[in-house]
Amino acid sequence: MKFNLVTLFPEFFDSPLSHGLMGKAVENDIVSFNLVDPRSYTQDRHSSVDDRPYGGGPGMVMFVDPIARALDELDIKPTIKGGIGRKRRLIMLSPRGKQLSQALARELAEEDEVTLVCGRYEGIDARFEDLYPVECVSVGDFVLNGGEAGALCLIEAVSRLLPGFMGHAESGTEESFSSGLLEYPHYTRPAEYEGLKVPEVLSSGNHAVIEKWRRERSLEVTLEARPEILSEADDLTKDDVLHLRKTPRNRLGRNLSMALVHYPVLNKFGEKTAVSLTNLDIHDMSRVSRSYSLAGLYAVTPIEDQKRLADKLISHWTEGAGSRFNPDRAEALKTVQVKNSLEDVIDNIERESGKRPVIVTTSARGAGTLIPGQVRQWLEESPVLLVFGTGHGLAPEVLEMAVGSLRPIRFMDGYNHLSVRSAVAITVDRLLGDAW
Ligand SMILES: C[S@@+](CC[C@H](N)C(=O)[O-])C[C@H]1O[C@@H](n2cnc3c(N)ncnc32)[C@H](O)[C@@H]1O
Repeated sequence: MKFNLVTLFPEFFDSPLSHGLMGKAVENDIVSFNLVDPRSYTQDRHSSVDDRPYGGGPGMVMFVDPIARALDELDIKPTIKGGIGRKRRLIMLSPRGKQLSQALARELAEEDEVTLVCGRYEGIDARFEDLYPVECVSVGDFVLNGGEAGALCLIEAVSRLLPGFMGHAESGTEESFSSGLLEYPHYTRPAEYEGLKVPEVLSSGNHAVIEKWRRERSLEVTLEARPEILSEADDLTKDDVLHLRKTPRNRLGRNLSMALVHYPVLNKFGEKTAVSLTNLDIHDMSRVSRSYSLAGLYAVTPIEDQKRLADKLISHWTEGAGSRFNPDRAEALKTVQVKNSLEDVIDNIERESGKRPVIVTTSARGAGTLIPGQVRQWLEESPVLLVFGTGHGLAPEVLEMAVGSLRPIRFMDGYNHLSVRSAVAITVDRLLGDAW
């Protein structure tokens, strides 16, 4: 496989491309590198490759022309001048590109030739991307001095998937991300170090047992470190799923309670009012509460006949005929308590957990600015009470009790009129879902 590297600093690549496995792969013709310096293609006396940005501001911007001439030498032409003859991958390293991944590395390893353009300074004049069919690739959400270090990451990730690059053909298929999971832990001699022993099973010589042990550790490591990639893992077996279910997890939901406030809320004229309890709200919210293992769900109303109604509903499903008819529903409704006021809810959480909860409100409108990541951080250390309103939303006095309000769901769109049940499900999944 051939890599063309368009770079103002060809010497940057000297050492990394000539040592270790990469050096061997070059010697064995598994991979080759063609370094092209745009400075060699400049046409002015000073060999200029950049200039100050239009509109002012710091830094310098790279000219398109020397890069275009360098690409012409590689027989890569601008698309608007007739297109590039063959389909060849032209990649520019850029912080706003799609993220480099094992899947992309696998895809590129199928190519015969890949051209990597490395930016420097503030980057390349934007017209470069108008002219050429460039794919932008990022190596992470941070800014490097230039594309060279990113290009090296890409080159290594791709090259080690090429046949013959690694000693053992299977090394590449067993590694992290190859099956959508992170890799299991490895050990080598000595058998005991600083009192820490190598797991016995690894010396058992029983390959089936070792394989099972490794698969289980791999699942556990992934669940702990990167739970979101599990939802993309394509070869999870029934046994894998059973193992994941048994694996203890850091369940942030244990610290999260929800309250559905029926008073004080606003009516459509913005006046303070009380709203009746709804069977459907209590049922659906309790099912979310149970599914995400929340600390509890509170229905807040000071109206006596509403409280009686709620108690009747809950006991029908948790103790009465409903519990025998549908035990799953009983499990969900057991998480519900009815309280007079939000103050009573807060006192209850404080009594049960020993800590006063952080209060976070929700609203479809308004100036909510809290993001789920911030609430997750609080959940690590403290109980959090997430407050939802009925009617036309929570009254100002409730909003004032909170540290802040979550940013509304679909805050960038004109229409976001969700039922409170939908808003609850979406919000809780954003806070606690496995795929964040
Ligand atoms: C100093 S950076 C320019 C950053 C640019 N002004 C910005 O804020 O997005 C110079 C060059 O480094 C490369 N680069 C920087 N960070 C990168 C990253 N995370 N992934 C890939 N390339 C990166 C790009 O080629 C970029 O043009």
